[in-house]
Amino acid sequence: MRFASSFPVLVCKALFVAYIAVTANVIDRQIPEQAAFDTKEHILTAELGQFIEDLLRTWNSPGGIALAVVQKDQVGEWNVETKGYGVARSDGSKVTPGTLFAIGSNTKLFDVLAAGLLIHNSSIIPPLTWETKMASILPTFELMDPISSEHTTITDIISHRTGLPRHDLMYSFSDDIPSLLPRLQYLRPSAEFRETSQYNSIMYMVLSYLPTAILPTKIPFTRYVTEHILNPLGMRATTFSYTQANASQELAEGFGRPGVNSWLNPFSVGKYKTFPFWSQNGGDDGNVISGAGGMITNVEDLATWLQFLLLKGRHPSHGVSVVPESVIRKASTGLAVAADDMGFPEFSTTLYGGGQIKTSYKGHEMIGHGGAAPGFRSQIFRFPLDNFGLAILSNDDVHGNELIEIIKLRIVEDVFGLSFTDWNTRYRRMMLTIATRAAATTTSPVNITRPSIQLDRLPGKYSNPSYGSLELCPVSCPHAAQTAVCKDVILDAPKMLSGAIDPTKLTFVAKWDKVWSTHLVFTHFNMNVFNVTVLMSIPTNDPEEPFWVTGDQFQRGVTMEFAEHHNTGKVGFGLMGNFWGAGPGVHGPQGETLCHRSEVLFEQL
Ligand SMILES: *[C@@H]1O[C@H](CO)[C@@H](O)[C@H](O)[C@H]1NC(C)=O
Ligand SMILES: *[C@@H]1O[C@H](CO)[C@@H](O)[C@H](O)[C@H]1NC(C)=O
Ligand SMILES: *[C@@H]1O[C@H](CO)[C@@H](O)[C@H](O)[C@H]1NC(C)=O
Ligand SMILES: *[C@@H]1O[C@H](CO)[C@@H](O)[C@H](O)[C@H]1NC(C)=O
Repeated sequence: MRFASSFPVLVCKALFVAYIAVTANVIDRQIPEQAAFDTKEHILTAELGQFIEDLLRTWNSPGGIALAVVQKDQVGEWNVETKGYGVARSDGSKVTPGTLFAIGSNTKLFDVLAAGLLIHNSSIIPPLTWETKMASILPTFELMDPISSEHTTITDIISHRTGLPRHDLMYSFSDDIPSLLPRLQYLRPSAEFRETSQYNSIMYMVLSYLPTAILPTKIPFTRYVTEHILNPLGMRATTFSYTQANASQELAEGFGRPGVNSWLNPFSVGKYKTFPFWSQNGGDDGNVISGAGGMITNVEDLATWLQFLLLKGRHPSHGVSVVPESVIRKASTGLAVAADDMGFPEFSTTLYGGGQIKTSYKGHEMIGHGGAAPGFRSQIFRFPLDNFGLAILSNDDVHGNELIEIIKLRIVEDVFGLSFTDWNTRYRRMMLTIATRAAATTTSPVNITRPSIQLDRLPGKYSNPSYGSLELCPVSCPHAAQTAVCKDVILDAPKMLSGAIDPTKLTFVAKWDKVWSTHLVFTHFNMNVFNVTVLMSIPTNDPEEPFWVTGDQFQRGVTMEFAEHHNTGKVGFGLMGNFWGAGPGVHGPQGETLCHRSEVLFEQL
């Protein structure tokens, strides 16, 4: 999970947007006399509905799907269809076109367009450009790599080229952008500046600070977007405020399936549980994640959004420009290669622009993004040369990505009259292959050797200047001296981490309060190495089962290693195995010492 554009990423075709603009203008000038589409459902047909209901059933989805499709015909007439399928909430209510979902990283495009509006704001002195350096706008902007610190521009941020990996576990809902900024300099980069594109939400959070940092009113990002993008487009249901979404009584609940490990056992039914909405603080002013992934919306508003994007920034009914065309083009044109191999011959190389990837499917150029929040998945894509766009939202935390991808490609094949590819069977096979591989690689050494450091020196408080501090609590050493914090953590572990701790192994637990995690569990593997699981313990309102646990499906292969500092004798531990979330093909750090090998290093206080 984690804000991902997590489905296989996507990509590009070297087609110049300027060329598209020319052809589109010719088309737009013709005034339609008659509707080219009658009022019947053309795309979201009963047959497609049956296909979607069957998918929800065969993938054991407790949730539903919301869909918007928009298509402009040759005389400029729009066909807009929206529909809901399946279940929105645990009370059994159905998904409708008005049902609100969290769209996660599909918010990033709003962040980029907000920056674009500031860049085109002639009353801002000195003027901003896409190449303005962040350090010149935010004096406290500092990264570990001095070159990156000095030279990172708005373009580098939107195309993920600072050299930083995700580091998504460093921030909490109690953070704000000013509290993040001074901690960025301690995050270890995984690549050189501009070497490669590695997805990074933290930089989008930093970008969302622009309206506050630059405008005399110090307006928060969320209010800036509402005032300059959502209101002009009439996207009235769209909000960053949980309070407002909840009050509308239209907010979907995200469903998880405790006990279903989507990697090891992808098709077990499990029993569902709901997530309390993830991002509840901040109201209309938003919070730390607003710019990277905080938007809540429905497919009715997203239909307008898709039309606006296909019209390169213009309002779909009166044609007034809301965002300059050059800004839409900047976001939609590839700035970096996101993936040079999609693993499927139907897709071309994927480029990343700004909050948008660009690829093609069976020769049809597509531009858009995926999004994830706990319990929610989304995709919003448009096919500019085909004047077609679609938005698909899911509230299934386990298989939302697969369901959305299968539905999207099926619709695209129908609409464009393409040959049929059985993505459902492909994805089911893929899940099973991953499960078989995962089972085969989960090994335990035959003869386990204890850590070289005395066990009673390992528990205690550790700290990292970016991630903050945490306390390792020895759940499996009842004789160890316990602090007050650890007494609570250990006492709560059976109910908060039910089923997540192997009682036969030496185990430490740390409780922290991050956006994507409440606990880390360290299970002894061999010598000084522990396996790490990054978990989120989620409260229910059920006294019988007060919590459920999720998170085992990601961060596989993360390990932790202890060492003693050779001079000071102090104990520290390093996290490795892609704990930091580096991009594809980017290797972890190497080296003789723990310090060199660690993606994130914690030192005992
Ligand atoms: C442009 O900047 C002025 C102040 O410098 C501000 O009042 C206005 O809201 C800004 N407009 C946009 C679209 O950023
Ligand atoms: C959400 O709305 C419901 C009523 O629609 C209300 O009972 C509940 O208290 C609200 N929750 C929060 C956290 O505001
Ligand atoms: C624990 O880590 C070791 C060393 O990296 C690895 O070989 C093993 O498969 C991991 N075990 C689990 C259960 O993930
Ligand atoms: C495990 O330890 C036993 C006893 O020391 C030894 O006989 C055996 O060869 C060891 N096995 C491995 C795989 O190292």
